[in-house]
Amino acid sequence: MTYTFPKDFLWGTATAAHQVEGNNINTDNWVMEHVPDSIFVEPSGDACDHYHRYPDDIAMFEALGFNAYRFSIEWARIEPENGFFSLAEIEHYRRVLVCCHEHHIKPVVTLHHFTTPRWVMKLGGWGNLETADRFARYCEKVGKELGDLIHTACTINEANISSMFVINEFAPSIDMMRQAPWWQQAALEMNADPQKMLPFLFAGSEEARQVIVQAHRLGAQALKSGRGSFPVGITLALQEIQAAPGGEEVAARARSFMNDWWLEAARGDDFVGVQTYSRQRFGPKGAVQPDPEAEVTQMGYEFYPESLEATIREAAAVAGIPIVVTENGIGTGDDTQRIAYVERALQGVIRCLQDGLDVRGYTYWSALDNYEWMLGYRPTFGLCAVDRLTQKRTPKPSASWLGAIARANQI
Ligand code: BGC
Repeated sequence: MTYTFPKDFLWGTATAAHQVEGNNINTDNWVMEHVPDSIFVEPSGDACDHYHRYPDDIAMFEALGFNAYRFSIEWARIEPENGFFSLAEIEHYRRVLVCCHEHHIKPVVTLHHFTTPRWVMKLGGWGNLETADRFARYCEKVGKELGDLIHTACTINEANISSMFVINEFAPSIDMMRQAPWWQQAALEMNADPQKMLPFLFAGSEEARQVIVQAHRLGAQALKSGRGSFPVGITLALQEIQAAPGGEEVAARARSFMNDWWLEAARGDDFVGVQTYSRQRFGPKGAVQPDPEAEVTQMGYEFYPESLEATIREAAAVAGIPIVVTENGIGTGDDTQRIAYVERALQGVIRCLQDGLDVRGYTYWSALDNYEWMLGYRPTFGLCAVDRLTQKRTPKPSASWLGAIARANQI
């Protein structure tokens, strides 16, 4: 049985600036990676040197069969100091966007993917409501200068990422982290108050939620005021939340806190970006670990591709707007496991489409083996391997397999 996807379905791969570009030195993450005893196991360094190698990478994505590429523009490069915009860096991203179009690749652009300029951190970061206005000013600049080349824009990547830490009993609390010497040192280096500084990845407080949603709303308006006319949305980290025995109430609370509150905030947007990797089960005392016999990925969470179908359905029901799967993928050293994962996840997308849900695209995370935040270069999500010494790219069998589906728009 073959299934043909809707016309104009976006088939892409995804990256984020900090994880692939290299030497992203003006960000809070760079500082946090370099302080002693940091919770980041290694620094991002040169990453995949995508900052220089994007022309070959984008040509490779086209040759593989993809028609879209999701990447992020780095705020800290565009606006390295408060109110100072770098025309040279804007030009850099213009070249990246032009390169996509030359290769018949639709650019899906994210304005904020976890990293924040150091100067924003000095002013409190995501705990300060003024960050929303500052983010919108940066979005306005990008919309004005680059909007004519953007196909789809995501304001903030995984706006809800830190709710996963808040709800997870295994994660350190923000108060504990603020006492840690690495945190204090990072704050010192950014001239920030360690008790007030709030990097995006740890912005799980009630106030931070308001700042992030406000930044999204103002950022979306600002992007739309510029050149071009393109859909704008937010992307969310969505896990299928399930109840373990006796955990129904806790699971319902977690679903509302981690998923539905955010999906409700997305109502009225042009689309919502669904980013799903696994499921999370909750017992009466909170999140539970996968069963000992469960297949787990390099990230330690369960191999559970069916969660994508569940989160698409949840997003459609709660947000009631079109959906783009802006991330889905697996960290694994076994490429046949990757193909099995994506195959099963795509079957779920097909069932959603057959039921009439408006799913507009699928971008696999990630195009390249890249910097996986706290876990450094250990997990390998890429369709293409990257030699860390030579930067040579080698597409894995899964890259040609998914590229062929993309080219045919059929499975
Ligand atoms: C993020 C990516 C990350 C991926 C795999 C998502 O949370 O947007 O930056 O690399 O998941 O863990």
